[in-house]
Amino acid sequence: MKETLDFCKAKASSSTANLGPGFDVFGLGLDLFYDTVSIKKLATNHGKIRVTLQDGNTTIPSVASENTASLSVMKIARKYNIKNDIDINVVKGVPVGLGLGSSAASSAAAVTAFDELFRCELSENQLLDFAAEGEVSSAGVKHYDNVVASLFGGFAIVRTYPTLQFSRINTPKDLILVVCVPKIVTPAKKTKVARSVIPRTIGLEDHTRNLANACMIVSGFQYQDTKLLASGINDIIVEPARKNSIPGYDKIRSNALQSGAMAVTISGAGPSMIALTNSRNDAKRIGKSMEEGFADSKIESQSYVCGVSKGAKVISKH
Ligand code: HSE
Repeated sequence: MKETLDFCKAKASSSTANLGPGFDVFGLGLDLFYDTVSIKKLATNHGKIRVTLQDGNTTIPSVASENTASLSVMKIARKYNIKNDIDINVVKGVPVGLGLGSSAASSAAAVTAFDELFRCELSENQLLDFAAEGEVSSAGVKHYDNVVASLFGGFAIVRTYPTLQFSRINTPKDLILVVCVPKIVTPAKKTKVARSVIPRTIGLEDHTRNLANACMIVSGFQYQDTKLLASGINDIIVEPARKNSIPGYDKIRSNALQSGAMAVTISGAGPSMIALTNSRNDAKRIGKSMEEGFADSKIESQSYVCGVSKGAKVISKH
């Protein structure tokens, strides 16, 4: 029999969503930043959930009903009629509001820890669905692309209709991501704002072009062919509507491509930008050129070179 636990800590990585044409469908885990969530089961049973943020970052709500980690946990507790009072501690490693799946990382770590602590034995789909609850607080809707990547790592495709379903594909060994993160403060509901500018209806030709690109991405992952997958990273529907909210977008893009990037796109809802390469030699240069692109618009930024992350995992329990 498994021992009873009082404490569990899990971590989950940053992620990039969309990869261009895969809006709300593609997610890729980034081995770059991590959130850590600790959950303590208390001896009392009033169904109270308290959330604290170790780094004291005031931009993250610490009201349980607004915090992404506790929102997910509250839904599981309600569903399984778990009444224990619990303390949740979130250590934010993923920068907030910059298109790197910050809220998803907290939710993914939280559901992973909670599932282990209370031995819920949730299926992968249930974990995914509960983790996506946390997205409602930042995006206004449940979207699964960041959470699927944070929870399970690698590249994942998700669909919600007719039922929630996801598929993971291993990533090519030579795939290198260059992420450029601007040092700007975005509004609290940035993703909701970034979603409001997207066209509600699209032309058939645009749909066909985006679909073809998305299929090339999947095909590239399937064949472990970085060049092929990068050739599909071109979105003509969502990205043009969002690019004006990213200072220096055109310059960042052209700089990265001129420095050897195979593809460049907005990371999730932005404003971070992400480039792909298979050359370690080019990666640093691509990053610097992207920083220069932001600098042209008087925005400071920091570029990072990383690989693909593995899924969320429990790192301590007792
Ligand atoms: N697919 C979501 C969007 C990702 O682009 O709005 C948000 O990180």
